[in-house]
Amino acid sequence: MFFYLLLTILTLIYFVSTRKYDYWKKRNVPHVKPTFMFGNYGDWILMKKFQGGVIQDLCKKFPNEKFIGAYFGTEPVLIPIDPEVIKLIVTKDFYYFNGRDLSEHSHKEPAARNLLISHGDNWKVLRQNMTPLFSTAKIKNMFHLIANCSYAFESMLDREIGMSAKVEAEDLTARYTIECIVSCAFGVDANTMSEEVADNPFKKLTQFVNPPKTIAPYVLLRSMWPSIFYGLGLKIVGKQIDFFNNLITNVMETRNYKPSGRNDFVDIIMTWKQSSKIVGDSVKNMKTGESLKVALDVNDNLLSAQCFLFFNAGFGTSSSTLSFTFYELAKNAVIQDKVLAEVDALMARHENKLIYDCVTELPYLEAVISEALRLHPILPMISREVMEDYTLPGGVQLSKGLRVHLPVYYLHHNPEYFPEPEEFRPERFLGDERRNINPYTYLPFGEGPRNCIGMRFAKMQMLAGLVTVLKKYRLELDDGMPRTLSYKTHTTTAHADGGIRLKLVERDGWQNRVFVK
Ligand code: HEM
Repeated sequence: MFFYLLLTILTLIYFVSTRKYDYWKKRNVPHVKPTFMFGNYGDWILMKKFQGGVIQDLCKKFPNEKFIGAYFGTEPVLIPIDPEVIKLIVTKDFYYFNGRDLSEHSHKEPAARNLLISHGDNWKVLRQNMTPLFSTAKIKNMFHLIANCSYAFESMLDREIGMSAKVEAEDLTARYTIECIVSCAFGVDANTMSEEVADNPFKKLTQFVNPPKTIAPYVLLRSMWPSIFYGLGLKIVGKQIDFFNNLITNVMETRNYKPSGRNDFVDIIMTWKQSSKIVGDSVKNMKTGESLKVALDVNDNLLSAQCFLFFNAGFGTSSSTLSFTFYELAKNAVIQDKVLAEVDALMARHENKLIYDCVTELPYLEAVISEALRLHPILPMISREVMEDYTLPGGVQLSKGLRVHLPVYYLHHNPEYFPEPEEFRPERFLGDERRNINPYTYLPFGEGPRNCIGMRFAKMQMLAGLVTVLKKYRLELDDGMPRTLSYKTHTTTAHADGGIRLKLVERDGWQNRVFVK
């Protein structure tokens, strides 16, 4: 009896988990035969290889195809390879692909109501109402806050490098970028650069963007089988969301629920709260050409979900980018020399004052960041979701709910688009050479209406942070630090396996380059 029951259960599991494995065959789309349960993403699911590498391997098998099919576990995924198809998805026919991931489940936990994960009209209204916060003028107005964080960074480096020249790069850069985002978005001091950082509540939250291996199975279960995940009563974001609820409530109370004039994130959401609704264009207008308006109800859950996102997106991506940039500079002494000369000239030109012009007056350093993001894109894969049945040019029909994985790491490392792709060469992003970059092959901040809303803010805080470090220190790889990086295999964002260990060596004449406030 037991044997038959077991056999029935196993047969059912087999049937359910393989029932979609003919999705691409039926559509005559090139794909690799999936393996039971793991599909084509087994090496990532089993944490043997990072996600960008697994997708790169699949794309390399079909270099001449415009798109391929794959299976993420049991679920079909479209992987567009040709830049023209990517353009269709992220820009031209964006309406059909406006979702990010698992849209049908995004109402199942409050944190998923954030801009990054929402879809359809909710996404469009949120995006429209948040965009003004990131205008060039607003960002410029925030620079004095970034400058204050840079002064605190300068003091922290003096104190900590004085004790030991060896640092773990991402730990160091995260303390700086947390201070920047918390100050600019919430108007409070995070104090992550003070001496007593071990119990700092903001620092403790960093586990979310660089999680330990034990969290990976939950993330995987949610992405592969969201119905089971939520059916079991699980949630991706737990108490962290309460922290942000308390944080904004406190800040709003301090401001007497009136805009403070700082025009920061809290000021914006306070106006939302006061009118209890935000209004914007319907996403359907993109398809129909109409000008329908829609309203989104504002409640505390919606507000804390945006705060949670701003904090994590705001510091994590920039701190990882900074640490990869440090690594590449430490590895490439000649390039570092050029950067140091550019930084020293900036400091001399502005008499050691850190002003907004650092954003426009460091073209070589900016190219260095762009090249670091090419080699080490923080999101090696960007997702989209088919929101309405869609037919690709050539006739392949994609059904609503299908996942789309944009192969960012593959594109950035493709010799057809970036000759000698493993070589660190910032000149690719300078002058005329920049024009050689094919549209839709370089996607560190995504593309189209859903691209990174914080890109300019990120560049501002990263450039100021780099000036702060490089005006005083030369970067060197610590003993035993590998010259080729491998990535953590259990995270969706790129992090160096084993971290990035550097030595910060004082430069001659640094005393002439101390910030004047
Ligand atoms: C170097 C730093 C950063 C990198 C590499 C980065 C990268 C990205 C990427 C690849 C996306 C997806 C784009 C797409 O789907 O086309 C994204 C989205 C997003 N980023 Fe960033 N980001 C950075 C910094 C920031 C900062 C500082 C903020 C906020 C202050 C931010 C907020 C967001 C938000 C809210 C979204 C979702 C946009 C939407 O779905 O409409 N990011 N980012």
